Amino acid sequence: MPSTTKPLRTIGILTGGGDCPGLNAVIRAVTKSAIHDHNLRVIGIRDGFAGLIEDRTCELTFHEVSGILARGGTILGTNNRCNPERYCISTDAQGNPVFSDATSQCLATIQKHNMDALVLLGGDGTMSCARSLIAAGVPCIGVPKTIDNDVVGTDLSFGFTTAVSTATACLDNLQSTADSHHRVMVCELMGRNAGWLALHAGVASGADVILIPEIPFELEAVADLVRVRQQRGPGFSIIVCAEGAAPVGQAKTVMKIDPKRADPFRLGGIGRAVAESIELATGLETRHTVLGHIVRGGSPVASDRVLATLMGCRAVEMLREGFTHHLIGLQGTSLVPVDLSEVIHRQRLVPLDHALIAAARSVRTSFGTSELA
Ligand code: F6P
Repeated sequence: MPSTTKPLRTIGILTGGGDCPGLNAVIRAVTKSAIHDHNLRVIGIRDGFAGLIEDRTCELTFHEVSGILARGGTILGTNNRCNPERYCISTDAQGNPVFSDATSQCLATIQKHNMDALVLLGGDGTMSCARSLIAAGVPCIGVPKTIDNDVVGTDLSFGFTTAVSTATACLDNLQSTADSHHRVMVCELMGRNAGWLALHAGVASGADVILIPEIPFELEAVADLVRVRQQRGPGFSIIVCAEGAAPVGQAKTVMKIDPKRADPFRLGGIGRAVAESIELATGLETRHTVLGHIVRGGSPVASDRVLATLMGCRAVEMLREGFTHHLIGLQGTSLVPVDLSEVIHRQRLVPLDHALIAAARSVRTSFGTSELA
């Protein structure tokens, strides 16, 4: 239920975590609707929570947000290494980061610019960074952003549909070269611990195998399928592999461990490992491609611009209605408030009984498990 807060005159807005297409569309919607419909001031906070800690802000007017609807990235900048409760202030003699609680600096910036509330564009990490501010009485509304589509409480995060479109176009390109050379192509996609991006792009591009974190795979099953396609036609195979996918009984492949990050394990490398194993097992020429950040950039597709605009306008309305610690969730066709405590430190994974997994199996796509290879 909304709680009573002091009158709303000025709102701050920041973008946290990794960027994604549609952030600027939300910034535009928040700014325009706040000024036009509610006569509010909007303060943009630069580089996520770092800007709040270090007092780097700028006032947003119609002028600043004009012409940004179709632009990728975020005009405010973002930062996925900055948690106010665990802010890196220096390094010790061994080069290890030294952390301190920077909540009071955040509150000082909020007070200095008379911000009455914050709109946070981010995933579960960004929302969890707001805990100490909410506890200190700062109303916060979250707008779910991620190409991973793994935010709990919403069926869809803006940015996801664009990432799926970009990945699908790249997979279509891989198919023609795989066909020409009679090769096996493994394409690694982002997604953290969730397989939504790989599942959707894999189905959209008609991939032969989709490997997702939710379904541990067997390399032999993948190799068998690839051999059959080589022998009986069509003579090439496309394997879409989520960065968090792993063989049965094995840990996820980690590229690098960065202690400065709130989430210190950077996933990556499974695409290459799968390609090498398949080539070894089958003798077939196999290549791997990592799409990585390519799918995070670029202009948002029309449906992401629409979702971002709806969510941005609703964020301001929710603050006006007195919501203080909620995420805007798209559930069915409705935008609903979801308590942030239900969102923080949780991830929305692909359920094993999801209709798209069944549909993929029906069109003979394998998930790398022996019974269906
Ligand atoms: O959460 C979004 C995401 O794109 C993940 O899919 C990926 O693991 C991560 O960000 C990559 O982060 P960075 O940009 O720090 O490499």
